[in-house]
Amino acid sequence: MKITGGIPLKGTIKTQGAKNAALPVMAVALLLRGETLTLDNVPDLYDIHSMMEILQTLGVDVEYKHDGKNSQAIFRVPDELKWEVPESLARKMRASSLMLGPLLANCGRVSLPLPGGCSIGARPIDLHLKGLKQMGAEIDIKDGVVHARVKGRLRGRRIYLDFPSVGATENLMMAASLASGETIIENIAREPEIDNLAATLRCIGVTVELEGVGGVRIKGIDKAHSGRDKVIPDRIEACTYILAGVMTNGHIKVEDVVPSHIDAILAKMEEARAKFTVKKNVVEIFPAKRLHPVTIKTMPYPGFPTDSQPQMAAALSLAAGVSTIEESVFQARFLYAQELNRMGANIQISRDVAIIRGVENLHGAAVKATDLRAGAALIIAGLAAKGETRVEDMIHVWRGYEAIDKKLTDLGAKVELM
Ligand code: UD1
Repeated sequence: MKITGGIPLKGTIKTQGAKNAALPVMAVALLLRGETLTLDNVPDLYDIHSMMEILQTLGVDVEYKHDGKNSQAIFRVPDELKWEVPESLARKMRASSLMLGPLLANCGRVSLPLPGGCSIGARPIDLHLKGLKQMGAEIDIKDGVVHARVKGRLRGRRIYLDFPSVGATENLMMAASLASGETIIENIAREPEIDNLAATLRCIGVTVELEGVGGVRIKGIDKAHSGRDKVIPDRIEACTYILAGVMTNGHIKVEDVVPSHIDAILAKMEEARAKFTVKKNVVEIFPAKRLHPVTIKTMPYPGFPTDSQPQMAAALSLAAGVSTIEESVFQARFLYAQELNRMGANIQISRDVAIIRGVENLHGAAVKATDLRAGAALIIAGLAAKGETRVEDMIHVWRGYEAIDKKLTDLGAKVELM
């Protein structure tokens, strides 16, 4: 993407359906037999299409409609699903691990090549496997492929997650939906995407009760029925545009936001003295003076999301003072810093902390999107920078941002795909 920077953004855009909510609720289709799952607000993204491709190879008939405003995906599931996930598709994205729980629960077995995804540090799936084993699965890993089986049904029980992993929570919730008896999972992730998954499971007949701060109780059923649900708005996409508005000193409205989902980011923006208002589901950004420096630590929800960390670092690279961001969820999530520094930022990495010394201006440069959110950070930095920025390896960005070129053009930015 070629970006001619320095233009304050102006206008209104609407948030897409959440990638990270859509992927698990699409995997819910694998809990069905001879039934249909209909999902509204499914975003048009590379990762979503990879997920659809995997579902198709497992035997699901997929219909996807997107008219530029509304979108819907219909998954017609046969009586018998295949249970071997092809290697080329599994390695395309980490969310392919979400096949494990539902396929094992529905078919009694699954083969899944260890998943790929963003290069943001080691991303094991040990917690997923531990929980499935506790529910009665036998699991071997041979030549990078996970082979899991269960005699009869998975068995509901109490599971404690050593860390509130989003993917492990989702996998085990889906597995528990067809298990015998009741499953209680403790120390679960409480990201909004988990509520979306709970709602989708309910729409196919599963009883799911999210309890207190960190638990969920699920009563397994023998057979799931057809259902329809919708995908929540993408909080990370919304915040990327919000921060683009802040960075360019623009005046923009981002619609279809659930403000409570982005409390941590809004709190830090307020602390940094960005000017904005929140009305119902609209966040409006106004031109303001330079941001004040802030201290941030990423944490599981409701803490500051790791997926907004690179974009926030980009915004703080123009603050009047020294900010720090500690990354506590993933290792090696600072690959973007070197690229931002090429644009004149002054970011120094010390183990899991980024020390960001604010500069007055950024300048255009040729940079590489090292992963999805790094790419987003470089794009918003390019919008604020003087001169021309070329962001290479946009393939990462298309995994998570629907029509980003069009949305930015609608906001008055000068961007071009090459
Ligand atoms: C999901 C999101 C991703 C987001 C992340 C944290 C999707 C498709 N992706 O990823 O965008 O950045 O949540 O909010 O929803 N871990 C283990 N063992 C496990 C599982 C996880 O050690 O079995 C570690 C990971 O390596 C990582 C941390 O736990 O350091 C968080 O991972 P997790 O919450 O599982 O993230 P994902 O579900 O992969």
